[in-house]
Amino acid sequence: MPKDGRRPDNGDETWMRDMAEGLSRAMHREQEAPSPVAETVLECLGPERTVLDIGAGVGRFAVPLARGGISLEAVEPSPMMRQYLEGNVREAGVGDRVRIIADAWPTEAAGIAEVALAAFVLQFADDPVAFVRAMERHATRRVVVALHVDPLWGRFRDVLAPLLPPGARRAGDASFKSLLTALIEADIVPDVHIFEQVMGPRWSSLDEAESSLKRRFHQDEPGQQAALRQILEDHPEFWRTPWPVRAAILSWRPPG
Ligand SMILES: C[S@@+](CC[C@H](N)C(=O)[O-])C[C@H]1O[C@@H](n2cnc3c(N)ncnc32)[C@H](O)[C@@H]1O
Repeated sequence: MPKDGRRPDNGDETWMRDMAEGLSRAMHREQEAPSPVAETVLECLGPERTVLDIGAGVGRFAVPLARGGISLEAVEPSPMMRQYLEGNVREAGVGDRVRIIADAWPTEAAGIAEVALAAFVLQFADDPVAFVRAMERHATRRVVVALHVDPLWGRFRDVLAPLLPPGARRAGDASFKSLLTALIEADIVPDVHIFEQVMGPRWSSLDEAESSLKRRFHQDEPGQQAALRQILEDHPEFWRTPWPVRAAILSWRPPG
């Protein structure tokens, strides 16, 4: 992943905006039912109540935690994501408790916190073990990592297969198994908690789904666009109904 947090197969920030919109919807839903990720962070806090949120995105976890009186540093390399994050921090009136760091992890611009959190970020790291080792150096009580267990697009993998550029990495596709194995091979044996999240529905009309997917999968040729339209007409469940995916929370005490 380049330093600015963008995906290598995307020339502009459109993909990042789509992801920011999805995360904003999740943040909104979680106002009613807090995510197990936020609950884990709360359980691990000590008296200082400080969190380092790495890859904070739109502030899905940072903003509600700050509302609860917690002080955070939020590391976020993407300018697009930071726009959303800054807006959400301002709107929530928690600017005095959230310091935003415009950088990619690992960065020495961040301080030490009781809990270092990286939620749905590790799949983008070139070296996941170095990534979490740096988290250990910045956490006094707990390292918390959330991962996708099921790929976000997994339910539709077969349906979408004809549209995918060969060899392209897709969001959420980095394997839970390979990341967990890499940690265990590095002698990091975390507590693992599996939970289910509801994804989607992402679009309110076929036209909206078509235009979003056209951007997402670079479907620029008329023939490709007709194929996409046909897929969406044949599979209305793709854009109309929510679907469950499993996620994992890994947590452990930093050494030393
Ligand atoms: C799927 S989003 C998750 C955002 C947030 N943690 C959440 O769960 O809502 C992944 C985020 O990680 C950021 N990211 C990617 N590589 C990163 C890195 N090396 N250091 C910090 N953040 C990174 C991206 O810019 C993006 O905002």
